[in-house]
Amino acid sequence: MYRLEGLKGLSPARLHKFFLRGKGANAGLVCAKPELRRAIEFLSVNLIRDDWPFQEPFDAIFCRNVMIYFDAPTQRRVLERIHRVLKPAGMLFVGHAENFSASRDLFALRGKTVYERR
Ligand SMILES: C[S@@+](CC[C@H](N)C(=O)[O-])C[C@H]1O[C@@H](n2cnc3c(N)ncnc32)[C@H](O)[C@@H]1O
Repeated sequence: MYRLEGLKGLSPARLHKFFLRGKGANAGLVCAKPELRRAIEFLSVNLIRDDWPFQEPFDAIFCRNVMIYFDAPTQRRVLERIHRVLKPAGMLFVGHAENFSASRDLFALRGKTVYERR
């Protein structure tokens, strides 16, 4: 379930095509329609544990405002894992307050909050 306001960048046509609006207690929320859900694998992952369940390399990873909670050595370990599961030249999107310039050996800054896997 997502807050409707979180999808405000989506066109009305896409919103209608891919999402269902919640009713009653879920008013103001939307959820992905079954055809979209079938294309998504939902997993719960603890980023600081070693047993990441991902099989295939990713083109892009969005990990926004999560690593701000980790100390520098933990951030580095998570960044090394992200590096391992991203395709070469894959993109990592982070939050505005996050800065991983200490890991330039792994990622090159490509925008204010966008890194490219080296
Ligand atoms: C500030 S919220 C950011 C949520 C979302 N990414 C965003 O930008 O709106 C921080 C999120 O980090 C998650 N988080 C904290 N420690 C984590 C960990 N070890 N593994 C996975 N997620 C974690 C929390 O559950 C929370 O959802």
